Amino acid sequence: MPAGGPQARIRPRVNATGFPGCREAAAEFASLAGLQQDRPVRMDDLQRAAALRLPAPVIEYFDQGAGDSVSTARAQAAWDRIALRPHTLRDVSRVSTATSVLGQQVAAPVLVAPTAMQRAAHPDGETATARAVAAAGSLMTVSTNAGRTFEEIGAAGAPWWLQVYVLRDRGLTAAMLQRARAAGASALVLTVDTPVVGRKYNAGPSVWDVVPGDFMLVNVPGQETLPAEAIDKADDLTPDIIGWLRECSGLPVVVKGVLRADDARTAVSAGASAVQVSNHGGRQLDLAVATADVLAEIVAAVEGSGAEVYVDGGIRRAEHVLAALALGARAVFLGRPVLWALAAGGASGQGGSDGVADLLTGFADDLAQVMTLAGVRSPAEIGADLVRRSSSS
Ligand SMILES: Cc1cc2nc3c(=O)[nH]c(=O)nc-3n(C[C@H](O)[C@H](O)[C@H](O)COP(=O)(O)O)c2cc1C
Repeated sequence: MPAGGPQARIRPRVNATGFPGCREAAAEFASLAGLQQDRPVRMDDLQRAAALRLPAPVIEYFDQGAGDSVSTARAQAAWDRIALRPHTLRDVSRVSTATSVLGQQVAAPVLVAPTAMQRAAHPDGETATARAVAAAGSLMTVSTNAGRTFEEIGAAGAPWWLQVYVLRDRGLTAAMLQRARAAGASALVLTVDTPVVGRKYNAGPSVWDVVPGDFMLVNVPGQETLPAEAIDKADDLTPDIIGWLRECSGLPVVVKGVLRADDARTAVSAGASAVQVSNHGGRQLDLAVATADVLAEIVAAVEGSGAEVYVDGGIRRAEHVLAALALGARAVFLGRPVLWALAAGGASGQGGSDGVADLLTGFADDLAQVMTLAGVRSPAEIGADLVRRSSSS
């Protein structure tokens, strides 16, 4: 059994002695690996399939960035600029992607970021995502804006963290935290890059014109009748909020949306157990730096503190995951790919939990292969020597 538990992705051994013909060998390898012949996971195909299934304002909402979407467009390119330096002549007959985040075992360091409007991608929304996450041995972050209740999501049995937008009404915020904890949330993810929502341009009708109000914020009691000021995001947060969240919930706090070494140090000094390097998928401050370009300095800033560092933004291939871990991240989070998979993923193309499970297990399988090719057997063996940053980055 793999070190990380029953669900860890282990690259299977192909029996070299029998050596059947090429096609049979490929089929045998694919079935042993649980891989489909069309691997690796192709994100642009998934994105295109989602665009065909969803109303235009919904796919526009998922894909857009703030301003002119410059940060959104730069995110993947920054990962693609990283060059890998694989090891050779290493025994890679057994490779495991298993790891842990805040003590929670996961099958691979590829986790689900919080995103609003999952019910606009699939009627089951976050509940479908949670079922997929449980099946794949992953972990999900549930948005404050979720459209399914914490109890429904918790019942799926996946490990989950609550993403927190601190609301202007702290009493409502505290009630939401307690409800999440009772439903099984095991950490809070405080989003710090959203004192206001970044402006986005819409060519025609926006998502708000086509989806019902109960796709959002269903876990904030009485939100339909509350004045907008009560549920607006707080814009007066300081580092003290981290201690308040810990006290209020008894849960560890991850600070999401950090792009600077000094902010990472401040968050950890104020009691954060982890920081998530993120620019919100480019949906907040346009021209914000790409996460791939600041990850290493943030890892260095908190080194020795015991805090974990995660990263998101533009991660679309297993090679990006390898690069992120080489730069010091403990895990990566996927945002848009999960929405596309919810809408149109899976073997049937019908999305839902099959679509998301297929995305997560496909990523884990791809990562096992990429680790094999890079000469590393576990996430712990992925070191900084595996990457060379290009001089243009
Ligand atoms: C449609 C959409 C909704 C999002 N909603 C939230 C949210 O409610 N809370 C939050 O902290 N981040 C939110 N994010 C940001 C993601 O958590 C994550 O930082 C980002 O999507 C990662 O980049 P990627 O989409 O390129 O993977 C959202 C992103 C998208 C695309």
